[in-house]
Amino acid sequence: MSGAHYWLTSDRLALRRFTPDDIDWLANLYSDPDVTRYLGGVKDRTKSEEFLRTRILHYYDEHPGLGIWMTVERDTGACLGYHLLNHIRGESIIQIGFTLVKSARGKGFATEMALAVLRYGFVDLKLPRIAGMASLQNYASQRVLLKIGLERRGERTFPHPDYASEGPMAWFECDAVEWLADRARRPGAELSDSRVQ
Ligand SMILES: CC(C)(COP(=O)(O)OP(=O)(O)OC[C@H]1O[C@@H](n2cnc3c(N)ncnc32)[C@H](O)[C@@H]1OP(=O)(O)O)[C@@H](O)C(=O)NCCC(=O)NCCS
Repeated sequence: MSGAHYWLTSDRLALRRFTPDDIDWLANLYSDPDVTRYLGGVKDRTKSEEFLRTRILHYYDEHPGLGIWMTVERDTGACLGYHLLNHIRGESIIQIGFTLVKSARGKGFATEMALAVLRYGFVDLKLPRIAGMASLQNYASQRVLLKIGLERRGERTFPHPDYASEGPMAWFECDAVEWLADRARRPGAELSDSRVQ
């Protein structure tokens, strides 16, 4: 896929919209119990198709600027996972999130692109606050949320069936004013727009 489809970039990564052609990749990702342990468990192909149609493709039109995007390695074009900035289901709260295939983990990729997504949310979308949540045992995800500047603010439970079975989840938030002030104090922390025009 050409760079023209990448709408947000970081040093090593880029984001692009999902298309219907990504169903094989997504169904494969959701068939892996290790990957989906903290994502509500494996999904069969039918459930993956429904997720792609409703939660990803329709959502782009329903909520311009927000969504779930494919995370791609710029050097190779490989699909590494996804990053998201979207509504927690059944809520008006906007969350940041990420999932990577196993071979892409441990290289700082989740953190690198999550920082770019957070900056996009605060600078370009002017969101006042962004949240994050993770299963209590999902230490890697919690660590990434902390590294990008979110603050742990206890636990929360959500009634939507996708989360209800999880019970209390580790809850993180970050206010735009504080995050932007903190980034401005860091030498080398880029606040400019990394969107591809
Ligand atoms: C969460 C996830 C995206 C992290 O991807 P990643 O590219 O490995 O993340 P990064 O390399 O940017 O950072 C991971 C951090 O977590 C730490 N970490 C990883 N596993 C950990 C564990 N079991 N306990 C504590 N810390 C852990 C790493 O050491 C690193 O922190 P450091 O830089 O301070 O050393 C990846 O593990 C994943 O896809 N998990 C499955 C899906 C998922 O749970 N998504 C989140 C849903 S809320």
